[in-house]
Amino acid sequence: MLSRRNFLTAAVGVAAAGGLAACAKKDDSSSGSSSGGSKTITLGFSQVGAESGWRSANTTSVKDAAKEAGYTLKFSDAQQKQENQISAIRSYIAQKVDVIAFSPVVVTGWDAVLKEAKAAKIPVVLTDRSVETSDDSLYVTLVGSDFTDEGRRAAKMLATVVEKAGLKGTVKIAQLEGTTGAAPAIERAKGFKEVMDADHADDWKIVVSQTGDFTRAGGKQVMAAFLQSNPDINVLFAHNDDMAIGAIQSIEAAGKKPGKDILIVSIDGVKDGFVAMSEGKINGIVECNPLLGPQLMDVVKKVHEGETVERWIKTKEGDYLQDQAKAELPNRKY
Ligand code: AHR
Repeated sequence: MLSRRNFLTAAVGVAAAGGLAACAKKDDSSSGSSSGGSKTITLGFSQVGAESGWRSANTTSVKDAAKEAGYTLKFSDAQQKQENQISAIRSYIAQKVDVIAFSPVVVTGWDAVLKEAKAAKIPVVLTDRSVETSDDSLYVTLVGSDFTDEGRRAAKMLATVVEKAGLKGTVKIAQLEGTTGAAPAIERAKGFKEVMDADHADDWKIVVSQTGDFTRAGGKQVMAAFLQSNPDINVLFAHNDDMAIGAIQSIEAAGKKPGKDILIVSIDGVKDGFVAMSEGKINGIVECNPLLGPQLMDVVKKVHEGETVERWIKTKEGDYLQDQAKAELPNRKY
């Protein structure tokens, strides 16, 4: 039963959801059927957007796995806007779904809506990205990668790449960051810097660092500006493959060879990233697996049935250097 205060909050939320609905791409694809027989699980899922190849693969994985599990999926694409995610979550609360899952665009600013879900007794599962909350009980678990470790692995991989390339002198790094305030952007930068400060304090320097918002267009535009302001950059660390691919276009337009004049390490491992790596344009990729759908559906079932689940269900992933790219390319599933 909602208290009056919570009821009012929810009511305002529903009204806001109605007003904002036009901003978010809705796709209330009902993957299961709730009619007749035993009631299927209804899952409300708020996706970040469609900013990258990784994200598209993640969306497909969630939709396919929900269908496979026989759940009714209410899916909404927030187009990388937090307000759209908040309004989608409020509309799922109003629709009394069984479980809410979402991949938060940024880390902060979720307390109010998560408290509304808690008051409505709807469990919340985070997928892919984490949040900062004042109260740990506001979500049940996170299904996703260790982004700090991905940053560390990228720095260790860069050390191998620099050695293989025989790069002498100062390693002048340009960093293309993900969406400002997003967990993968904050944590990948942190993990990378941690290894850099510990092992390469004298010879590595991040000379320029800016967000490319995890998109190809962003990577292309920001890299073009980097090359103007710092033409002596010899390394690019991109927080995802899409930004690396966009940056490659600007590097080539500037008359330089990606993978040779500018060594490139990125994160994700999408097919297009592997194509660029097999062409010699990317030197190494740290994998971040987007195929979270089956694991998510499993967790949703457990949470719905009141089973205890781990607080963080981590994804397994690998590291790939350029000389592995051609052999690995046919195996890439996304
Ligand atoms: O949260 C995962 C990140 O988000 C992926 O690395 C990136 O490609 C996506 O947009």
